[in-house]
Amino acid sequence: MKHLLGVENLTREQAERLLDRAESFAEVGRRDIKKVPTLRGRTIVSLFYESSTRTSSSFELAAKRLSADVVSIKAAGSAVDKGESLKDTIATLTAYDPAAIIIRAPQAGAAHLVAGWTDASVINAGDGKHEHPSQALLDVFTLRRRLGSLEGTRIWIVGDVLHSRVARSCLMAFGLMGAHVTLCGPPTLIPRGIAEATGANVTYDLDGLAEADVVYALRMQHERMSESFVPSLREYAARYQIDSRRLGPRQLLMHPGPVNRGVELAPEVIDSSQSLITEQVESGLVVRMAILYELLTGSDRARPKGGPMSADAPPRIGQPA
Ligand code: CP
Repeated sequence: MKHLLGVENLTREQAERLLDRAESFAEVGRRDIKKVPTLRGRTIVSLFYESSTRTSSSFELAAKRLSADVVSIKAAGSAVDKGESLKDTIATLTAYDPAAIIIRAPQAGAAHLVAGWTDASVINAGDGKHEHPSQALLDVFTLRRRLGSLEGTRIWIVGDVLHSRVARSCLMAFGLMGAHVTLCGPPTLIPRGIAEATGANVTYDLDGLAEADVVYALRMQHERMSESFVPSLREYAARYQIDSRRLGPRQLLMHPGPVNRGVELAPEVIDSSQSLITEQVESGLVVRMAILYELLTGSDRARPKGGPMSADAPPRIGQPA
């Protein structure tokens, strides 16, 4: 596997290998010295054309914990402000011979384009409404740790499915791992034909929510809404907000963040013991370490030549940097 462009291209075997690798990095994270030399001497570029807290910080920290050199660029304040195109920006950054480019962009398909313009591995950190594969993998990892397996688990994804790349990637990833997915939201925020295209159940109200083992709430994506999709946020919250009356005591709660408190989630459930939101953030770090590791040194990737101190030496997860 050279790139991670979407869950769409992943096999279950590849996903499970990544998650197993993430488990080994979780062990590294419990040590006093949390750094390993695996990617020493490799350069990783992180290029974000959209705002991010979790994805950008965890990819940067993941790369640093693997001892890579990291160049982080936000569109604001970069030459993008001066009108430089994505292609020219990639050509510029490729001159540093990076091993990987992590990209978030508002255009669906941006990461695919970048993969055609560089020899580096490309990681899609979110492309418009299309995909956010590392988010889906960290969500599967979080659930696998809690439940052992997703096989047969009933997961409800609730909210703004239409604008959500997280929903698209999670729907595919949860299905890949054997879960049964139900999509729930206002008809205006559920893509037409998605049930037929994906095999997911679709419902427009929360009446059957009690059957869910996991409730995955989505953020209302105001920034992607050019028109009004719900009468008001107050009305949306009245019909779809997950609160302590709607979340049963055995159900787990997830959200990719950032949360609109009081819109898709009531404050009391965000901070409840059923909430996995903090665990999702923790998982993000080790899963992204695993992604970088697999793409840059993985067994099905041609490795660069090098001596015993190079990155193609046997995995040295067990040794601190
Ligand atoms: N879930 C997620 O992508 O969060 P950020 O926008 O903070 O990266």
